[in-house]
Amino acid sequence: MNATRLDAQHDAHLEGLENAYARLLEAQGYDGVLLYSGAPRHFFGDDQQASFATFAHFLHWVPLAGIEHSWLLIRPGQRPLLRFHAPADFWHLTPSLPEAAWSRRFAIETTAETAPPQLPRGRLAIVGEVDADTAERLGAALNPPALCQALDELRVRKSDYEIACLREANRLALAGHEAARQAFDAGAAELDIQLAYLKASRQRESQVPYQNIVGLNEHAGVLHYQHYDIEAAPRRHSLLLDAGRRVAGYASDITRTWAGSDADPQFAALIEGVEQFQQRLIAELRPGLDYVALHEQMHLELGRLLNAQALIECSPEAAVESGITRAFCPHGLGHSLGLQVHDVAGRRDSSGGPLPAPERDPALRLTRTLEAGMVVTMEPGLYVIPMLLEPLRDRPAGRSIDWTGIARLAPHGGIRIEDNIAIGHGGPINLTRD
Ligand code: GLY
Ligand code: MN
Ligand code: MN
Repeated sequence: MNATRLDAQHDAHLEGLENAYARLLEAQGYDGVLLYSGAPRHFFGDDQQASFATFAHFLHWVPLAGIEHSWLLIRPGQRPLLRFHAPADFWHLTPSLPEAAWSRRFAIETTAETAPPQLPRGRLAIVGEVDADTAERLGAALNPPALCQALDELRVRKSDYEIACLREANRLALAGHEAARQAFDAGAAELDIQLAYLKASRQRESQVPYQNIVGLNEHAGVLHYQHYDIEAAPRRHSLLLDAGRRVAGYASDITRTWAGSDADPQFAALIEGVEQFQQRLIAELRPGLDYVALHEQMHLELGRLLNAQALIECSPEAAVESGITRAFCPHGLGHSLGLQVHDVAGRRDSSGGPLPAPERDPALRLTRTLEAGMVVTMEPGLYVIPMLLEPLRDRPAGRSIDWTGIARLAPHGGIRIEDNIAIGHGGPINLTRD
C-alpha cells in the first residue's frame, strides 16, 4: 500500500463520513450521536476474556480493530471527539494511539475511565452495545432503529480508502492460502494447515475476521466446518480452505479448493468447472444488476456443470426446477463484505425497506440491486452433502442422478471458490485476483 495515497484516501473517507453523518443527524432531528466501541466479555465466573471485535460503526471512523471501552461523539460542524480508553495497568500494556495522519481529524481525550464523555445539551442518540440504564442516565435514545438503519446504509457503498483496505486484506490472505496449499501438498493435518495459514498471513487466531474453515476430505462438505483435526488424514482427497484477514478492521473472505493425491480425476474437473462458471458470473457484475437474478443464474450454471459431467441426466433447467441444484449448493452466491464479513443491509433496499430472501433461498444474504462502490463475495459451491442428497433418492428427480458417481465423489466433501469483488462504474474489480 502506498502510505501517502492511503492517507489522502483516508482523509477523504473521513470527510465524507462527517458530511454524511451531519446530513443524516439533521434529517432525523438529532444534535449528535455517541458511538461505543464495545468491550470484551468475561467467561461466566472466570477472569478470562472471550476474543472481541470492536463495533463496526465505530471502526468506520477509527481504524483500530480491537479498540475497547472507548467512545466517539459526532456532532455536525464539530470535530469528532474520540474518548480513548488507556488505563495505566502493570498487568497489561497500556494502549496508545499511533502517530497517524487520520488522528488530526479528531479531538482526542485519553482517559483511564470507562465512562462516556460529558454529553452536550440537545437531542442525542447512543449507538452500540450500551445498557438501557446508561442511556437513560445520559438522556439519550439508545440504538434508535431509523438511525441505525441509516448508519448501516452508509456502509453499503465503500470509499476508495475502504476498497484499498479490502484489497490489502486480500493480498495478505492470499499469502496464507499459498502456504496452506503447500502444507496440504506436504501431507499436513488440518491444524498444521491452519497454523501455516496464520503464519504466512501474519495474524493470530483471535484476529481472524471469521473462524477459518480448513476441511480435508468429507469435512470440505460441512459448510461451516469448525474443527481442526490434529492428526494428518491418511487419505488425501481434497482440501477446502475458507480463510480471511483483517486490515484496519476490513475483512477479506476467500475460499479455495484443491484436489489431493488420492482425488478422483473427476474432482479436479469439477473444481475447474466451478471456477470457470464463477469467473463467468463475476464478469456479469455491474451497477444496476439484480443480485438475486445472478444467484439464480448460478444455479443454472451448476446444473450445466452437473449435466456436462454426467452426474445428472436431466436438463440444467429441470435440475434447477426440481431442486437438485439446491441440494448440491444450499448457500447463497455471496454477500456484502466490509467491516463485517457478512456486512450490513444486504437484505434492505437503499431506503431501508426489507428485501427478504426468496422462499427457496433462505440462506441468500444479499438481495439488493448492485451499485458502484459495493463490495461483494462471489462463492458458488458444489457439495456432496448426504443429508441433502439422500432425500432425493426416493423422489422422481432422484432418478436422473448418477448415484454411483455421487458415492465416488462423497469422500471429497465439496468445492467452493470465493473471490471478493468491488463493483466499479465500468464493471467488476476483482480484489482477489487483479
Ligand atoms: N466465510 C464465510 C462465508 O464465506 O460466508
Ligand atoms: Mn468464505
Ligand atoms: Mn463469504
